[in-house]
Amino acid sequence: MSRYVAAIDQGTSSSRCLLFDRDGAVAGAAQREHAQLHPQSGWVEHDPLTLVANVRAVIDEAVAAAGASAADVAAVGITNQRETTVVWERASGAPVANAIVWQDVRTAELVAQLADGDADRLRATTGLPLSTYFSGPKVRWLLDADPALRARAEAGELCFGTIDSWLIWQLTGGPDGGVHVTDVTNASRTLLMDLRTLDWSPQALDLIGVPRALLPQIRSSSEVYGELRAGTALDGVPIAGVLGDQQAALFGQACFEPGEAKNTYGTGCFLLVNTGAEPVASRELLTTVAYRLGEAPPAYALEGSIAVAGAAVRWLRDQLGVIGSADEVEALAASVPDTGDVYVVPAFSGLFAPRWRADARGAIVGLTAYTTKAHIARAVLEATAWQTREVLDAVRGAAGIACEELKVDGGMTVDELLMQFQADVLGVPAIRPQVSETTALGAAYAAGLATGVWSSPADVRANWRAGRRWEPRMDPDEVARRYARWREAVERSLNWISPAPPAR
Ligand SMILES: Nc1ncnc2c1ncn2[C@@H]1O[C@H](COP(=O)(O)OP(=O)(O)OP(=O)(O)O)[C@@H](O)[C@H]1O
Ligand SMILES: [Mg+2]
Repeated sequence: MSRYVAAIDQGTSSSRCLLFDRDGAVAGAAQREHAQLHPQSGWVEHDPLTLVANVRAVIDEAVAAAGASAADVAAVGITNQRETTVVWERASGAPVANAIVWQDVRTAELVAQLADGDADRLRATTGLPLSTYFSGPKVRWLLDADPALRARAEAGELCFGTIDSWLIWQLTGGPDGGVHVTDVTNASRTLLMDLRTLDWSPQALDLIGVPRALLPQIRSSSEVYGELRAGTALDGVPIAGVLGDQQAALFGQACFEPGEAKNTYGTGCFLLVNTGAEPVASRELLTTVAYRLGEAPPAYALEGSIAVAGAAVRWLRDQLGVIGSADEVEALAASVPDTGDVYVVPAFSGLFAPRWRADARGAIVGLTAYTTKAHIARAVLEATAWQTREVLDAVRGAAGIACEELKVDGGMTVDELLMQFQADVLGVPAIRPQVSETTALGAAYAAGLATGVWSSPADVRANWRAGRRWEPRMDPDEVARRYARWREAVERSLNWISPAPPAR
């Protein structure tokens, strides 16, 4: 009997592989970072072949760390950075270009043209605003960039995939019989899928200009897609679960009931609330698929996406050099009692939820001769908490959901100062589970449910245990005063880049 389920978590900054036992405990893990490529201002790329090489390496390392072999592993789940776009040759497996990462804003003008004054024209169908964030415009941009590619795409010589599709195709044989599929959660981030039919939308394909021959087949989040055939330690094991990383974290946090919410603090920050069997419309938040288990009807979610959270800490480290490593930020920020009325708005690639303003850029406001790097570091941390407050307000407005507590996870949640401030400004407790690798865990659960390792979501829920809890402590009047200052600061980040956003 297999003891473990493996999860591959191919993220924006790194690739991980974790082996979980039936209790959801980690038995072995490995991780490799990859380079962020910035060929021009506003462009963000990854080398797709490096991602595959790193995934293969971490599979072998995690299996070795657990002292396991393929026979010990019942199934593999995949979770991934979403929206990031790869187009490759079906015959050779060679990418036609680097992957365009979700944060990349090169499609801003194209998106403004497609919107033609109405950024919400695909909202009712796809649940999403027209934005540089999603995959569809990135595919269109790649096809426009090289005139030879469109004809090849229409002839079926090329494949498009988000990172899940790219990995599954490569790991199940590549040019030699690789399976070209995606799951509903990843497909729901392309601007090309109809949220109700769970199939590609002819209207969206036509508007954005993406040929159907490029696209993967859309499958559920939990079923057997194929076996690993990639020269790894897990060859022969079925891939049986796929969820975009934020949906995977929702699943790993066992948010199966309408109204249950989680917030993940990684490169960006993503708050998702389960809304049950019906998609809920919102102009400030994204309507998206939470998961679909085999033939069962899907569950939907509302999502507030924040583009820059931990990435701003990384920016303090790599671009400003004020800290040597991410974990130094807490001590630096804690060396001052407050930000000294400084606010950092990290709108590096515009602002996502709840404003969706491509014209915004980063701003530091309130600087005086008294300001130190400690105030700025503290303001960087607090920016994540304020953005989360704005998103939670939008969730409460759209879904009529009270959200009396927030489950949290991700790399930034080790930061006690940030988490206490988060509970303070939300006015509700923040709770971190014992197993903080919820993204990988969610993918493992999806794969294990498809292969009988766990029998139902109730099994999964029984594994969830609270770890650390932060209660709100700040005086509500003080929170209100600072929240108003934060919103003033955001105003100053807007209208920086032209063209101005289309009216909504
Ligand atoms: N002590 C800390 N305080 C604040 N931020 C931190 C701390 N340690 C790490 N971070 C930030 O957390 C982020 C990493 O979190 P995590 O590993 O969850 O990222 P991730 O989003 O899963 O990565 P990926 O984007 O690859 O999926 C980094 O951006 C880093 O700057
Ligand atoms: Mg991640």
